[in-house]
Amino acid sequence: MSPSIVDSIRESLHEAMHPDQFGVSAQTASYAVGALSAGLVIFLTYAIYLHPLAKFPGPKKAVISNIFAFRTIVSGRSVWIMRALHEKYGNVVRWGPNEISFGTVDAWKDIYDRRKDGKVLIKGPNFYRVDDTVRAKHSVTATDPEVHAQMRKMMSHAFSSKALLDQEDVIQHYANGLIDAMYERCNDGPTDLVDFFNWTTFDILGEMALGESFSSLCNRKTDSWITIVLDSVKFTAWGVAIMKIPLIVHFEKYIFPKKVLEAGYTHALMSKKKILKRAEMTPTRLDFASYILAKREALGITDWELAAHANALIVAGSETSATTMNGLFNYLTNYPDVYQKLKDEVRGAFSVGTDITAAKAASLPYLTACIEETMRIYPPIPNGMPRVTPPGGCTIDDQWVPGGTTVAVHMWAVTHNPKYFKDPNRWLDKENTTERLDASKPFLVGPRMCMGINMAWIELRILTAKIVFHFDFTMVDQRNWCEGQNCYTLWAKPPQKMVGTPAQPSLL
Ligand code: HEM
Repeated sequence: MSPSIVDSIRESLHEAMHPDQFGVSAQTASYAVGALSAGLVIFLTYAIYLHPLAKFPGPKKAVISNIFAFRTIVSGRSVWIMRALHEKYGNVVRWGPNEISFGTVDAWKDIYDRRKDGKVLIKGPNFYRVDDTVRAKHSVTATDPEVHAQMRKMMSHAFSSKALLDQEDVIQHYANGLIDAMYERCNDGPTDLVDFFNWTTFDILGEMALGESFSSLCNRKTDSWITIVLDSVKFTAWGVAIMKIPLIVHFEKYIFPKKVLEAGYTHALMSKKKILKRAEMTPTRLDFASYILAKREALGITDWELAAHANALIVAGSETSATTMNGLFNYLTNYPDVYQKLKDEVRGAFSVGTDITAAKAASLPYLTACIEETMRIYPPIPNGMPRVTPPGGCTIDDQWVPGGTTVAVHMWAVTHNPKYFKDPNRWLDKENTTERLDASKPFLVGPRMCMGINMAWIELRILTAKIVFHFDFTMVDQRNWCEGQNCYTLWAKPPQKMVGTPAQPSLL
């Protein structure tokens, strides 16, 4: 009987792979296998038991290569994987060959604030990378402390108390537009609050950073650029993951999902086009762009750098505030007694919606507590923001960490650490017992903390007070919408369907 095709292939493979074919004896081959095995054993022993970071607990598969970290990031499950690691291994976890994650309050200042010598840990260059789409650094991605200090100084005028007054006008305008849109839509059945908050916060930042809003609120439709910006956030996560495996960096454009790659490129090009258009305009009030453009010549800011700054402001300032609003309305509708107490406070303080200002809303303690607690339980940037230890190493949370190690506080792990919260998954109660709220640093601490914190508080207070004053909302399927979401640096938020009933007869 003639041999089958499979047998012939097997035969030829055997011949091809036979050591004698290469002039190598069976004995030499077995030495090679032995050497490789010994090498592997030495490598594993070093990585797991002898490496300078070996004293930190963590899963073995995570410390022998960066594949675990790569997969964690691109899976979108990073928040939940890191939470599980902290639950299993404790407050300090080695989750990559060279990466340590902390889940403690003291680590906040040790990693992000100035140290005794006045220096600060630099931002992890692989996380805050600049690729050929973005092409220029901005205040979030600048890793060199001196370059960053210059950018921060340039931008600081845009966040001064004087500038905040202008910002409040813009916020009021779009907050009223949001209330109008909600009144109009509330008779049509459930509405998606993810859309509503994205429209509002992106319109505000579009106007402030690029001189024109995205017109989403007035069109009642998500502008295509907002979709691109949100898709491009995934781009950032893929970029970070790929840097973990240097061998594949050169092939990244073949590895990136096509949609994510296109979003990154389109976003960068559109930012540049829009900011150059804004540079030609004479605005009626000072916006963020005014302060950056004023320094354009003196600091030699290139077109791509202009685009990078605008881009950073839009991504940093809009999605984060929108996420907080969605988180807040999720928890309010899940905790009716808290919602009722907040309605009593807001409706007791104002008789008409037009009276609501940032200053008056700031005097309502329960309103502030609800927003703070939302950012604790559902932080808009829930993962760690990596920094690198100095060459000589340093102490973090009483533990010595060798130089060149990537370290971060995992936001979610510290804000859900049972050491600080009796029941970390319980939202604010009526008595407002928030326990260790200092564990929660949604805006970070130190010289790299959020520049827009005051603007964010104005926005969050005005939007919350106005919506609570005008509407009663109920979640359509009464579930915890925040639970189990995917995250690619920022949350990948599913639709948030709610029914809004007007609580006031008049519109504004
Ligand atoms: C709830 C809302 C917000 C949250 C939770 C938030 C959080 C943060 C965090 C954690 C950082 C540090 C990022 C890092 O080191 O990787 C940051 C930086 C920054 N944020 Fe915000 N942010 C919010 C709103 C805003 C707003 C409204 C603006 C205004 C445009 C803004 C502008 C910035 C800027 C410019 C930086 C870079 C600061 C620097 O490195 O000097 N943020 N933000």
